[in-house]
Amino acid sequence: MNSKFDFLEEQHVSPALILDLAHFAEAHDVPAGEENRITWPLMPFYGREILEMAIAALLQGENLLLTGAKATGKNVLAENLAWLFGRPVYNVSFHVNIGSAELIGTDTFRDNEVQLRKGSIFRCAEVGGFGILDEINMAKNDAVSVLHATLDYRRSIDVPGYEKIDLHPAARFIGTMNYGYAGTRELNEALVSRFLVIDMPPQTEETLTYILGKQFPDMQTRAREQLTGLFLDLQLKAENGEISTKCLDLRGLLAALRTVRQGLSPVQALRMGIVNKSFDIFEKEIISDVVATRIPDNWTGTDIFGELK
Ligand SMILES: Nc1ncnc2c1ncn2[C@@H]1O[C@H](COP(=O)(O)OP(=O)(O)O)[C@@H](O)[C@H]1O
Ligand SMILES: [Mg+2]
Repeated sequence: MNSKFDFLEEQHVSPALILDLAHFAEAHDVPAGEENRITWPLMPFYGREILEMAIAALLQGENLLLTGAKATGKNVLAENLAWLFGRPVYNVSFHVNIGSAELIGTDTFRDNEVQLRKGSIFRCAEVGGFGILDEINMAKNDAVSVLHATLDYRRSIDVPGYEKIDLHPAARFIGTMNYGYAGTRELNEALVSRFLVIDMPPQTEETLTYILGKQFPDMQTRAREQLTGLFLDLQLKAENGEISTKCLDLRGLLAALRTVRQGLSPVQALRMGIVNKSFDIFEKEIISDVVATRIPDNWTGTDIFGELK
């Protein structure tokens, strides 16, 4: 079997699904010029059940909505799926002001004539990409109407003022939406009905141990336990509303650990990766205390990685 699927086999994902994934890739060519959009997501997604649900839904031509709190791996999962299906990725972040012009296109004057400069949804639809619709619940009205058309079961985008666009058979859309501890904007019912929805579980000791182990195979056991505990402490405090989710930043934690390899002390590194993500002095104090109880002030890189290479 293709080594690309090794991490699925490792997690005992259903062999029938893996086989169908391989068939999918064989059945759909990648158009020329799109190769650089097919990228390894840097981190394999960990979670057999979630992977199986997501793969089965996409194989059946469905679009996916990934919901859940921050740092539950929504974006990593979306990137893993595009990679597994062998499709180019188109990222659209709805956190910025995005409308139909960015999504479908705008008329521009080129070579003495009016031409359509294609937007990201248009291009994704055309080449059979995987469109990652990040923070889709933040979409403005103008964008929402494009999304309604894009995610229609007829698989063709019909927006007033534009030519009708038929979706390539391999095109899929994966929405992500943060919700959980603090209040968030809801997604309207008609849009939700166009997706199968996966509610991403929060991190556990097991998932964090796996993630840290994959990223830092040489980490000392005691350090891994303390860092896992640190993240779970923060997650619990966020769940209880004692802190916001600003410091609940797994990416920041991993980035901090890389700077420890570069020679910073663990406390300095965690200040940059976790503590300073809060801009509220009271919250910052709570976070500093959580860090201090898990990671002693006098720890050096050696306490995390053993002998530094
Ligand atoms: N189940 C998981 N498997 C692998 N990595 C994960 C998982 N959950 C979280 N991560 C890691 O956590 C960080 C944040 O993940 P991300 O996908 O950005 O979360 P979200 O989009 O839900 O906020 C990334 O560095 C990612 O590698
Ligand atoms: Mg995200």
